[in-house]
Amino acid sequence: MWEKKVYMNEKNTVFSGVQPSGDPQLGNYLGAFKGWVERQEEKDNYFCVVDLHALTVTPDPIELRKQTRELAAILFACGIDPDKSTLFVQSHVSSHAESCWLLNCVTPIGWLERMTQFKDKSKGQERVSTGLLDYPVLMAGDILLYDAQEVPVGEDQKQHVELARDIAERFNRIYGETFVIPEPVIPEIGGRVMGLNDPNVKMSKSYSHIRGHAVRMLDDPKEIERSFMRAVTDSSNEIRFSDDPDRAGVNNLLGIYKVITGKPEESVERDFYDARGYGDLKKAVAEVVIEELSPIREKYHQLINDVEELDRLLSIGAEQARAISDQKLRLMKEKMGLIVS
Ligand code: TYM
Repeated sequence: MWEKKVYMNEKNTVFSGVQPSGDPQLGNYLGAFKGWVERQEEKDNYFCVVDLHALTVTPDPIELRKQTRELAAILFACGIDPDKSTLFVQSHVSSHAESCWLLNCVTPIGWLERMTQFKDKSKGQERVSTGLLDYPVLMAGDILLYDAQEVPVGEDQKQHVELARDIAERFNRIYGETFVIPEPVIPEIGGRVMGLNDPNVKMSKSYSHIRGHAVRMLDDPKEIERSFMRAVTDSSNEIRFSDDPDRAGVNNLLGIYKVITGKPEESVERDFYDARGYGDLKKAVAEVVIEELSPIREKYHQLINDVEELDRLLSIGAEQARAISDQKLRLMKEKMGLIVS
């Protein structure tokens, strides 16, 4: 199967990843997974469950193993098709960790200290792991090993993809043309889904245990409805899109409805002309989300019950990923003056 991929160079290459930490939520789905699935036909795709990245926050080992398989099953359940895309686990392909070291040696430390996610995650921590600081270099390696032109991510990862570009440019300048310069691809709406309990904070896996914050992808319909009915709105009762920070809750709900239904803004607003208030809006958003996630949840439960098959698919994915990334790692080593056997 990988031979077919190697020769499909006329398609743009796409690389993206997701961490197996916490429960995947609606923001992951709308900001990333949905677009990955929808465009997989047109591209040469690599999707990665980035377990090495998850280690930066010292997860429980048993939980990490469990969440890695669960996340892979969710991605397959969303429609990632092993005949069209390569889906694999990062630690199964050793060139990722190795390329990180090589890229570390061309990355100024100040570039990493400036990353907003590092500043947020390290704030108030007594001890911060080197891994947390180095995280975006590992991510740059992920992307650059595959010569990815496009990196579809949510808004929060844009800065990391830009750093990958800077690292690639610096490496090319020092050692000569080696890497393709990647572009972040961010969905116009859905690139930043906000928390339902606080529309000024991004919906996040790390807070998905907080009641009312996130819609988790595997929540049952009742739970999803409850989460939306509790969503924070405002007192104006006007159902239209707006940039007003005081109306961020309603804007978030309308944005979710828009991405799922695929309707233009006017038509979304028209759907709510006769609404009796925010209760109707919340119900309608809950309905479209339930309809979208239910088949995924069902498929997930079938897949997760067959761990042997899941592991088999992941080992095929890892083999395909190795076939590409090992060549690039070898080239990096040659350019840097290592003896390549
Ligand atoms: P992670 O695991 O935090 O998130 C996975 C994807 O989901 C997107 N996302 C959101 N999009 C919209 N609204 C939200 N509220 C929201 N929350 C999360 C993220 O932007 C991301 O696209 N560092 C990455 C994983 C990674 C990676 C890579 C990505 C590692 N290597 C190489 C791209 C390319 C991360 O932690 O994503």
